[in-house]
Amino acid sequence: MSWFKEKLLCDLAIDLGTANTLVFLKGKGIVVQEPSIVVVNKQSGKVEAVGKRAKEMLGKTPNDIITIKPMRDGVIADFEIAEKMIDYFIKQATNNRIFLIRPRIVIGIPTGITQVERRAVKDVALRAKASDVYLVQQPVVASVGADLPISEPTGNMIVDVGGGTTDIAVISMNGIVFNHSIRIAGNEMDEAIIQHLKKKYNLLIGERSAEQVKMDIGSAYPLDD
Ligand SMILES: Nc1ncnc2c1ncn2[C@@H]1O[C@H](COP(=O)(O)OP(=O)(O)OP(=O)(O)O)[C@@H](O)[C@H]1O
Ligand SMILES: [Mg+2]
Repeated sequence: MSWFKEKLLCDLAIDLGTANTLVFLKGKGIVVQEPSIVVVNKQSGKVEAVGKRAKEMLGKTPNDIITIKPMRDGVIADFEIAEKMIDYFIKQATNNRIFLIRPRIVIGIPTGITQVERRAVKDVALRAKASDVYLVQQPVVASVGADLPISEPTGNMIVDVGGGTTDIAVISMNGIVFNHSIRIAGNEMDEAIIQHLKKKYNLLIGERSAEQVKMDIGSAYPLDD
């Protein structure tokens, strides 16, 4: 490979989550960590905001501007918007040099998804100008991230509570021995808080406030402030 091409070669890994999307750039680390939310103008079809800025607008947009979460239960629910979102995050991760670079991309997918859903994830990344796309099972990569000795012949259990799904898997010798995915996770906890406040105190709060309440009183780990 020429020196020039080697310089341009770039590998990305994407965690396309229901709540958050993360992009890892080889040699740099996590360069994008943003909510999987897109704000679109219904009239013009124009994307008004993506990620953090889009989340800030949640529940505050006028009628002709809508907030879309293109991922549901870990899979793509809205292709067109998912593509725009991935495209935006890849451009952000590669400083807009995507056409020059055409990265190889690894994407983590939930274990329970169908062939059609797998294909959809792959197509969206290819259309966003990836040169190659590799799909890996999320529990396996989560175990690698958590430093579990998954290549040993022992049972390693991983429970990944996300926004849309909770995935439980037992991994041994680099493969999944057992897995189960339930569609109950952080979003349902937020929804339960909204319903509780509505029923008990006749108080209506939005999803962002509900999430904040959850983190303030029941964070899964100690927070900085
Ligand atoms: N400190 C915390 N304590 C409790 N819940 C948290 C904390 N931080 C984030 N969450 C919740 O975790 C969820 C997001 O997790 P994560 O980013 O892993 O999901 P995701 O990968 O986007 O979703 P999925 O894997 O279902 O597609 C949200 O519901 C968020 O409110
Ligand atoms: Mg996840």
